[in-house]
Amino acid sequence: MKKRPYIICLMMTSVDGKILSAKWGNSPRIKSLLINFEKAHDTFKVGAWIVGRTTMEKDFTKGLKPILKKGHGEKSRLDFIADAKAKSFAIAIDAHAKLGWKKPLMHGDHVITILTEKVPDAYLAHLKDIGVSYIFAGKKEIDLRIALEKLYSLFGIRKLMLEGGGHINGSFLNEGLIDEYHQLILPIADGSIETSTVFEIQPKVKKGGATLLKLKQVKKIANDVVWLKYKIGN
Ligand SMILES: NC(=O)c1ccc[n+]([C@@H]2O[C@H](COP(=O)([O-])OP(=O)(O)OC[C@H]3O[C@@H](n4cnc5c(N)ncnc54)[C@H](OP(=O)(O)O)[C@@H]3O)[C@@H](O)[C@H]2O)c1
Repeated sequence: MKKRPYIICLMMTSVDGKILSAKWGNSPRIKSLLINFEKAHDTFKVGAWIVGRTTMEKDFTKGLKPILKKGHGEKSRLDFIADAKAKSFAIAIDAHAKLGWKKPLMHGDHVITILTEKVPDAYLAHLKDIGVSYIFAGKKEIDLRIALEKLYSLFGIRKLMLEGGGHINGSFLNEGLIDEYHQLILPIADGSIETSTVFEIQPKVKKGGATLLKLKQVKKIANDVVWLKYKIGN
């Protein structure tokens, strides 16, 4: 494999490993616990973060539908770097162009979206108009390794925060693409059967058994939150 960014996965969970914080209510106590995620994120000082399509849609673009440009021409399937000088990046994996974008920044970070070649020309035309960068990482399905190699070579991204949800984390884990895992365990018991955990991998694609981790640090931080740090791989 060519060079790729070092991947640090950061997640916040209940004691039973569940990740859907929206289900935990919005009492002041819960809200004060949830703040720990952003605080922890900031301590890494890594200028690039990546999330799955669902997380980007639910938590960031707030359900905005894809915008298609009218009267566009045919668009090549060449990668588009809209801002070569950007220093921080918000990255989405969106194989089927389901995310809507109105501006090229998310929380001040330059947006890069990772697409397959089968997305509509009109979608690409709109992204170009508004200055969202895009890269292609497969014809019909995303090849995560290609995506990561391009983030490294085209944007100079050396370290990347992988921040959920469970399905994108599961895809990275399944491909052996996580180097460090950090888990903030909140003093909450979720207890629901149907909600996602940190790593969700479809049985039909799952490779091998469980992944072994090496514990590097255990810290108790504010409000009874435990911060675990693991290394994965060699
Ligand atoms: N507690 C935490 O720390 C934390 C952090 C982040 C998110 N969350 C929560 O997690 C929830 C979302 O989690 P989720 O597991 O449902 O969704 P997700 O992982 O955010 O996104 C899943 C989607 O990403 C795309 N995807 C995943 N693997 C892919 C691959 N290998 N190739 C191409 N596309 C791939 C697919 O999009 P398509 O369907 O378009 O193909 C898939 O449906 C949200 O409610 C969010 O709030 C919690």
